[in-house]
Amino acid sequence: MTAHAQHHGHSHGGHGGGHAHASGAELAETLDLDARILGSYLDEATAWAGDLAVKAPASIIDVGAGSGVGTLALARRFPDAHITALDKSAEMLDNALKATAEQGLDGRVAGLQADLDEAWPASATADLMWASSSLHELTDPERAMAEMFEALNPGGLLIVVEMDSLPSFLPETPPEGSAVVPGLESRLHATLASNGWNQYPEWTAGLERAGFAVERRHFPTTGSTTPELAARYGRIFLGRMGSALAGTAAPADLASLELLLGDGPESLERRSDLEVRGHRTGWAARKA
Ligand SMILES: C[S@@+](CC[C@H](N)C(=O)[O-])C[C@H]1O[C@@H](n2cnc3c(N)ncnc32)[C@H](O)[C@@H]1O
Repeated sequence: MTAHAQHHGHSHGGHGGGHAHASGAELAETLDLDARILGSYLDEATAWAGDLAVKAPASIIDVGAGSGVGTLALARRFPDAHITALDKSAEMLDNALKATAEQGLDGRVAGLQADLDEAWPASATADLMWASSSLHELTDPERAMAEMFEALNPGGLLIVVEMDSLPSFLPETPPEGSAVVPGLESRLHATLASNGWNQYPEWTAGLERAGFAVERRHFPTTGSTTPELAARYGRIFLGRMGSALAGTAAPADLASLELLLGDGPESLERRSDLEVRGHRTGWAARKA
C-alpha cells in the first residue's frame, strides 16, 4: 500500500483502476488501450482548453503524464507549444517519451521526473497545465493545486480530468439466456469505490480555495472500437477487478467474472455485445 493509501485508508485507483497493484507495463497498456478506445474526450477536452486559453499556450505541463496519452493529444492540439511530461515514475516517463518520439514530436516534448507528494518542482512554470486521472493520486491534492496556481503564468489555465466511474464493458441488460448476473459491474464498482478506487472529491471547491476561477464540463465517452480491442481492455480490467475482489465480492458475481474471463461461450472474446464506457468530468481552472 502506498503512503497515500495508508493516509486515506484506501488503495489507489486511477483510470487504470487499482493500478497500485498493476505492474508499470500493465498500467501503461491499460492507459494506452483506454485512450485508443475512449480517447474522444482527449480531443474534446484539449479543444475546450484551446477555447478557454487567453492566448495559444507556449508552455504546457502534463501533470502525472503516465504513458503519455494526454501529452500526445496536447501536442496535436497545440502545435507550437513546448510540453513537459511530468511524472514520479521513470518507467512511465520512458513510455511517454517513446510514444512522442514515435510520432516525431520529441523536439517539442521533455520529461520531468518529480514526486508531487514532495514538492512542486521550482523550474516548472507553464501557460497550461493538464492533470488527467492524476490529482486524486496525490497525498495532498489541495497543496498541489496551490502550487500549480503559483507556477502557472498569469492568465494560465489548469485542466483537471477525472473518470466519473471505473470503465464498464457489459451492456446494462445482459442478453436473454446469459449466465452473467445483471448489474455485475455496478456492484463491483461500488465495492471498489469503497476501497478507494478512483475516489476523488468534487474538485471545484478545492480549486477555488487555491485561487482559481472554475468551470466544469461533462464528457460522455462511449468507445467505438473493434470487439477485439474491447475484449483486450475488458480482460485486463475485469481481471484486475477480479483479483482485487477475490473473497470479498458475492459468490454469484465472482462466478460471472469467471465466465467472462474464461474461454467458454460467455467469454469476453466470444461476446458481440461489449460496449466500453468511461464518462469523464473536466474542470477548467483559470488563474486571473
Ligand atoms: C492513472 S495515471 C494517469 C496517466 C495519464 N494522465 C492518463 O490520463 O492516462 C496517474 C499517473 O500519475 C502519476 N503520479 C501518481 N502520483 C504522483 C506523484 N506524487 N507525483 C507525480 N506523479 C504521480 C502516476 O505515476 C501515473 O503515471
